[in-house]
Amino acid sequence: MCAGSWRPAVNRAGRGERREVTVNATPRKFVLGISGASGAAYSLRFMRLLLERGHELHLVVSDYGRRLLFDEAGVRELSAETLVPEIAAGLPSGRLFIHPNKDVGAVIASGSFLHSGMVVLPCSSASLGAMATGSGSNLLTRAAMVTLKERRPLIVCHREMPLSLIDIRNMETLALAGATICSPNPGFYLNPKRVEDIVDFTVGKVLDLLGVEHDLRTRWEHHEGDHSPNRVGGE
Ligand SMILES: Cc1cc2nc3c(=O)[nH]c(=O)nc-3n(C[C@H](O)[C@H](O)[C@H](O)COP(=O)(O)O)c2cc1C
Repeated sequence: MCAGSWRPAVNRAGRGERREVTVNATPRKFVLGISGASGAAYSLRFMRLLLERGHELHLVVSDYGRRLLFDEAGVRELSAETLVPEIAAGLPSGRLFIHPNKDVGAVIASGSFLHSGMVVLPCSSASLGAMATGSGSNLLTRAAMVTLKERRPLIVCHREMPLSLIDIRNMETLALAGATICSPNPGFYLNPKRVEDIVDFTVGKVLDLLGVEHDLRTRWEHHEGDHSPNRVGGE
């Protein structure tokens, strides 16, 4: 479990098997797909935290993902300066790669590109369906399908509500193929006060799934002296 002993968390083909994920601080490569579902704040926060921790990030954004980035976060073009303005100036070259969604010849479309996991955050129902049926013809869905076939971690943060049976079946298909379905679905037991707290709850969960160290306030802790009326064993 020590930092140096990390090996890529391998998806040993779904069906209820638990992936072994250990937390480690060694810089690694990740892929992020942003599709046209609501939740630009999640992806921007995720990007910043990964890059701040020295990881390499390969980003691909669908056309509607670009629209959502603009509508929800005012991001007009895709660059380090617009996506992670707080850290862009100090970002070394070779840390953030932005791939055009049309370019299915980009490195992340190849199984020979070694990475430690891909996250689709947020994931639209359209991209969910394309991944589940293997019908995707853009880089985002191609990279996700390659991640699955190579048995690397694929974290799918689908956002929609309510869910149609089609969405539910697509999630089942992807989960059986080895993906982790991690819909942005905040808990309120930490008493969030700000939107940022709610965003961090989901982003922290995704980082946990990838074994990336973080210090976001996301964990339930029992404190001595808590006297919840329904506490098991409580007075
Ligand atoms: C403002 C806006 C918000 C949207 N929010 C969602 C959403 O939360 N979930 C979803 O599945 N689709 C949402 N959509 C619809 C998708 O963007 C649309 O289905 C699109 O084709 C998705 O394509 P993509 O997966 O390639 O990005 C939204 C569209 C717009 C314009």
